[in-house]
Amino acid sequence: MPTTTITPVSSSSSMSFSSSSSFTPNNKLDLFFSPDLIPAQVIAELHPSVHLRPLSSTDYHRGHLSVLSVLTHAPDPGYSAWLKQYEAMRSSPNTYYPIVIISKETDRIVGAGTVIVERKFLRGLGRVGHIEDIAVDKREQGKKLGLRIIQALTGLSESRDIGGCYKTILDCSDENIPFYEKCGFEKKENEMAKYAPEAAALPKPKTTPKVKAKL
Ligand SMILES: CC(C)(COP(=O)(O)OP(=O)(O)OC[C@H]1O[C@@H](n2cnc3c(N)ncnc32)[C@H](O)[C@@H]1OP(=O)(O)O)[C@@H](O)C(=O)NCCC(=O)NCCS
Repeated sequence: MPTTTITPVSSSSSMSFSSSSSFTPNNKLDLFFSPDLIPAQVIAELHPSVHLRPLSSTDYHRGHLSVLSVLTHAPDPGYSAWLKQYEAMRSSPNTYYPIVIISKETDRIVGAGTVIVERKFLRGLGRVGHIEDIAVDKREQGKKLGLRIIQALTGLSESRDIGGCYKTILDCSDENIPFYEKCGFEKKENEMAKYAPEAAALPKPKTTPKVKAKL
């Protein structure tokens, strides 16, 4: 594991520290997809104390489920079951694009999100990007990490390299609408949901209006 000294140079966020770390660079990881697909502009605007990259096959050990648990139930199935799910998702090529933000100080995940590319018969065999599972560690909220995750996922969705989705959509609670509006989305239509009986036994998420990227 390399030792990294982190010296923030400039940022709009309040994160600021300098320390030794066990940060694992991209070339030492088995990544879900090529990091070159992530828009360079988003990487350039990140605070230097964090790193944004595709999910890796060892991110279970970096607190992936713990970060997702700020969003909803994320019970721990154990590493081998987690890895099986990772491989099952990766075996559908050009479909799932899960990303994470890592603290360089701790090598732990502080934010996560995914865009899923849906192929359609309409709109000239068009594609739609579905943003899912956006979560930022409670201690790191308010530092523009959520914004960077959404910018990266929207950039991926619209990228010609992965097929160029004609729109990007997501569901969110009423209280998160202002956040997504700041990310360039606007409210459209409504979401409908029917939970399977076994899922209905769990506490239900709040009402979730549908938000779409401006076209
Ligand atoms: C919602 C969430 C992803 C936002 O991430 P974040 O890193 O805290 O947000 P950012 O710092 O990137 O915010 C970007 C802008 O949106 C604003 N914003 C963020 N959340 C907001 C909210 N709930 N209401 C109003 N504005 C909000 C910020 O103030 C900031 O505005 P500014 O540019 O004027 O300073 C994060 O709070 C979170 O993980 N919440 C719990 C899980 C969740 O609800 N996920 C979303 C599921 S749809």
